[in-house]
Amino acid sequence: MPVNLPDEIVNKVLWAIPNVLCLLGSRSGDEWNAMTTSWVTQVAMEPVLIAVGVDKKAVTHRLIEDGGAFSINLWSRDDTRPFVKFSKPAAHEDGTLNERPIREGSTGSPIFEEAAAFLDCTVWKAIDVGSHTLFLGEVVDCAFQGDGEQAEIARMEDTRMKYGGVRRGGH
Ligand SMILES: Cc1cc2nc3c(=O)[nH]c(=O)nc-3n(C[C@H](O)[C@H](O)[C@H](O)COP(=O)(O)O)c2cc1C
Repeated sequence: MPVNLPDEIVNKVLWAIPNVLCLLGSRSGDEWNAMTTSWVTQVAMEPVLIAVGVDKKAVTHRLIEDGGAFSINLWSRDDTRPFVKFSKPAAHEDGTLNERPIREGSTGSPIFEEAAAFLDCTVWKAIDVGSHTLFLGEVVDCAFQGDGEQAEIARMEDTRMKYGGVRRGGH
């Protein structure tokens, strides 16, 4: 925790950083999952690497470690409803996660049919950063889906949700 700074200030300033909101897909064997995620950014061009910060307590963390891969599913900002449901472990049934249709990506990770675009990544490096692990993923596949190229991609400010700052109960 930053020295001599009230949590409220740290939260307010860190929440002011604009972030995407997406579904982070993961899988190990028969176990499939996806979670609402905001800490996502590109960090290198050679190789093309995407970093995601994942809580060590999340099911997703174990599945990315075991499966060695993850998918980033970008969503249209017109439909932010999935983000509420995917902020706890998802129900996997009949080719769906929380009733949203999925298919298997080239890394084996779930790709949402309704995503505006996806990136499929293999874990290039995992860095322990305390409460979270920073998974660096090499992009092995990516595409727009449907009319996704025309969509505006969902971001945190499209919802009333927050993530980040100092650790609170629940997260
Ligand atoms: C708006 C929002 C953004 C979030 N962003 C992240 C994130 O970037 N990294 C993370 O580890 N958890 C994030 N979470 C929390 C996870 O969605 C939550 O812990 C989820 O329960 C983990 O799911 P899992 O245990 O099924 O993997 C976020 C939650 C919300 C509501």
